[in-house]
Amino acid sequence: MGRSEIEGKADFDHIRYAQLWEDADVLTEALGDCAGGTLVSICSAGDNALAMLTLDPAKVVVVDLSPAQIACLRLRIGAYRALTHSEFLELTGSRPSKRRAELLARALQGVDAETHAFWTGLLPEVSRHGIGGIGKFERYFRIFRTWLLPLVHSRRRIDEVFTPRTPEAREAFFETRFNTFRWRLLLNMFFSRFVMGRMGRDKAFFDHVEGSPAQHVARRIRHAGVATDPSQNPYLHWILKGTHGAALPMAWRAEHFDTIRARLDRLDIRPGSLEAFVSTGEKANGFNLSDIFEYMSPETFEAVYGSVLSAAAPKARLVYWNMMAPRRVPKAYSGAVETLDRIEDQLKARDMAFFYSDFVVEEVRA
Ligand SMILES: C[S@@+](CC[C@H](N)C(=O)[O-])C[C@H]1O[C@@H](n2cnc3c(N)ncnc32)[C@H](O)[C@@H]1O
Repeated sequence: MGRSEIEGKADFDHIRYAQLWEDADVLTEALGDCAGGTLVSICSAGDNALAMLTLDPAKVVVVDLSPAQIACLRLRIGAYRALTHSEFLELTGSRPSKRRAELLARALQGVDAETHAFWTGLLPEVSRHGIGGIGKFERYFRIFRTWLLPLVHSRRRIDEVFTPRTPEAREAFFETRFNTFRWRLLLNMFFSRFVMGRMGRDKAFFDHVEGSPAQHVARRIRHAGVATDPSQNPYLHWILKGTHGAALPMAWRAEHFDTIRARLDRLDIRPGSLEAFVSTGEKANGFNLSDIFEYMSPETFEAVYGSVLSAAAPKARLVYWNMMAPRRVPKAYSGAVETLDRIEDQLKARDMAFFYSDFVVEEVRA
């Protein structure tokens, strides 16, 4: 099975995710001890494959069907090599900058010609928003933030979201100041299937999604606003303010910058499908599967899950998210893996990328 089901359906010519919207802290903890092992990661914008280098694996094989997403990782590799940490944060868009053109040019110095041309063509957008702000997904948040959010909450109210508070005070702030009638109305309108399909995600990706996106988002916003601390949440900060505050995604933090930079040559980038990797006969000790199973029909999911197992070493962990469609070990393979419920529960409670409904950690039996 070299060709993936979604390949024929969606348009992968543009960057869909210019930064990773999955929490690498919970991912890396879920993968457990991987030192010296082989890891496999879906690329997306590349940030979580980079974060996985902190686990000290021998290599991280990175796959993605989308050449544009692979180009996000290749640019990041150039950026880690050529820039200081604070320059890196200016280029990503985490911090304001007036010199992104120069930073981009430096980051692109050692990269291949295709990646160079791809990113050079995006220079005006990069200058305005940073390399982490120009995917379809980020554009969708930008429209929300620029045109709709001001109709509901003042800038001051948005800033107040990021004031550190006790859990009790978070509850009170959320109920009395944030979760207003107008806010709920906005959620219902913006997160309708129609709007999300048109602006955020490809319509094909909704084929298998259950429940109303707006109801789901309302539940998850409570998680981000009350159950976890918004002042520590880089994803919420970007969505509401368009940059990062004090909190950063794992791979972008100062404390990991040198470690990641020193291990960049452990990345083994293989443009193409996960299914193509599993058919090589190699065995991996851990898999970051993003939320790709949700994009597959239940039948395809079962087949792909089986092939991932055949490429997994004993004790390898499969880590993945579900946004709306339920995907967990298919019955046919339930004897081959153990679900690590305790780890899942602990990590779900901490997951800052709040829009997922489920986080799965399954370990291959020895
Ligand atoms: C599933 S999407 C989800 C993105 C995500 N939630 C994020 O925060 O970035 C991640 C990536 O998976 C890739 N992808 C989807 N199915 C794949 C497959 N079967 N093999 C390899 N890559 C795949 C897409 O091209 C996309 O770049």
